[in-house]
Formats: sequence, C-alpha cells, structure tokens
Amino acid sequence: MNDGEFRILLDFMDLSFPGYRKVRKGVKKRVVRRMVELGIPSVMDYLKLARRDKEEYHCLRLIMTVSISRFFRDEMLWKDFSGHVMPELAATQSSRVTIWCAGCARGEEPYTLTMAWKVLGQKLPHLPPLKIVATDINPDYLAMAKQGEYRQNSLKNVPPEIWATCFEPTPRSKWFRVKPAFKKGIDWRVHDLHDDPPDERFDIIFLRNSILMYCNDELKAWVLRRIVSSLANKGFLIKGAHEQLPRGAREFRSCFDSPYIFRKT
Ligand SMILES: C[S@@+](CC[C@H](N)C(=O)[O-])C[C@H]1O[C@@H](n2cnc3c(N)ncnc32)[C@H](O)[C@@H]1O
Repeated sequence: MNDGEFRILLDFMDLSFPGYRKVRKGVKKRVVRRMVELGIPSVMDYLKLARRDKEEYHCLRLIMTVSISRFFRDEMLWKDFSGHVMPELAATQSSRVTIWCAGCARGEEPYTLTMAWKVLGQKLPHLPPLKIVATDINPDYLAMAKQGEYRQNSLKNVPPEIWATCFEPTPRSKWFRVKPAFKKGIDWRVHDLHDDPPDERFDIIFLRNSILMYCNDELKAWVLRRIVSSLANKGFLIKGAHEQLPRGAREFRSCFDSPYIFRKT
C-alpha cells in the first residue's frame, strides 16, 4: 500500500496523516494482512467493503489502533503530577478521587497511576482513595492490561523505588508482572471515545496519545466536547507532549507551567 492509498484510507476514517506518519509502516502491514485474509487485492475495493459492512468497518478501526505506551511515559508529566496535582488533591479533596484513563492501551498508564498514588503518595499527609476507570476501544489490549505482564523495555522510565515495590519477575526472561496490590481500584471497560462518556464525574481525565494524536481536527473537537462534559469543574485534563487541544477548546487553561496538565475553568 502506498502513502497515497493510505491517506485515502485515513481520510475515510477521519484520521490524521501527520499522527500516523511514524507508525504507518506497521499499520499498513496490518491492513494489507486483513485484505489478504479476505482475498481483496485493492485498497479501494477494501474501502468499499468497509463502507457498506459495519462489522468490517469496526474491524478496520481496531486494526488502525496503535498501542505504543510505557510506564511513566513523559517523565516530566509524572514529576508535575506527583509534585503538584497529588498534593493539591491531598489538601482539598477528602472523598474518593475518580480518574478516567481514556485510550489506556495495555494498561501501562493506569498502573503508573496506582503506583504513583500508593508509593509517591506516601510522602503526603493525606491522599484520598483512588478509583480509575480505564477504557479502550480494543478488547485485546484490555485483556493484556488485566494480565499485567510487561517486557522489561516498557519499564525503562520506572523510578527505582517503584520498580522494587510494584513489580515481580515472571518465569519468562525479561518479563515483569504488576504486583496484585497495584491492580486494585482499576475498572477496565471496552469503550469507544466516539460514544457517550462513562456515567461517572471525573476529577481527572488522561487523554494522551489517542484521539488528539491520531484523529483529524473535526473529530478531535467533537470527541473532546463530549469528554469534557464528564470532567468536574476545576478538574484536570492530561494530554500528551506533542498534542494540541483543538482550537476553540476555551474551557481549559494550562497549569503548573506544564505542557501536559490543563484545568477546566
Ligand atoms: C498509543 S496508545 C496510548 C496509551 C496511553 N494513553 C499512553 O499515552 O501511553 C492509544 C490507545 O488509544 C486507543 N484508542 C484509539 N482510538 C480510540 C477510540 N476511538 N476509543 C477508545 N480508545 C481508542 C487505542 O486502542 C490505543 O490503545
């Protein structure tokens, strides 16, 4: 599949070429593998099928998902999160803190949160209990997330005190498992960000490296408007380093001089 055909496919799905530029080789391979399975030689014919067949369209959406992640991705974010966000919540909120990890892939981000909360939170006088709703459109990623086993490579940003406390080795060489204590408090759900948000009211929403990275501007703005309705006033929205909030997202202001942390005003 050449880039021209790939762009047509992305346009059809409301996805963005700049977002997919770096990962397009692997994604194209998966699409071509699916076309071979179906015995369809041309991208245009495959698109015709995806246009008229709902199930194939959904299958294509899953094929297009990218699960790259790691524990403590964006070290500066976690420094600001434990240095500013957690102390603020410890000082101002006595009831449970509810966080939505939207597009959580294989679970690295929600587990990073439980680890930061339990281990780094010990330095704070009072940190309320935590509930995490971790969602992804791809059920295969969620199955792996629940298992909680990772290659050593995904752990390269993990601070030493967390590595020692939160992970244990597995029989597989260079694979580590999240200890059961850090799996508690996470509610895993299959959820498509194009649908209504979960019913909860969230204190924090993590929306990193998913729609803001991979969707076109119209879709980003539309999805964000719906997500925002489930964020509490003064709640935090966390985005990735290289992502832009859509123009018109005026209800957010940047916090703590961080490129990652925004507050709903
Ligand atoms: C690159 S991973 C990001 C994981 C994590 N948030 C991080 O920043 O490390 C993007 C995830 O978003 C999910 N995703 C993409 N589109 C989605 C949608 N419409 N609804 C729900 N999840 C979606 C993908 O399945 C994938 O697991």
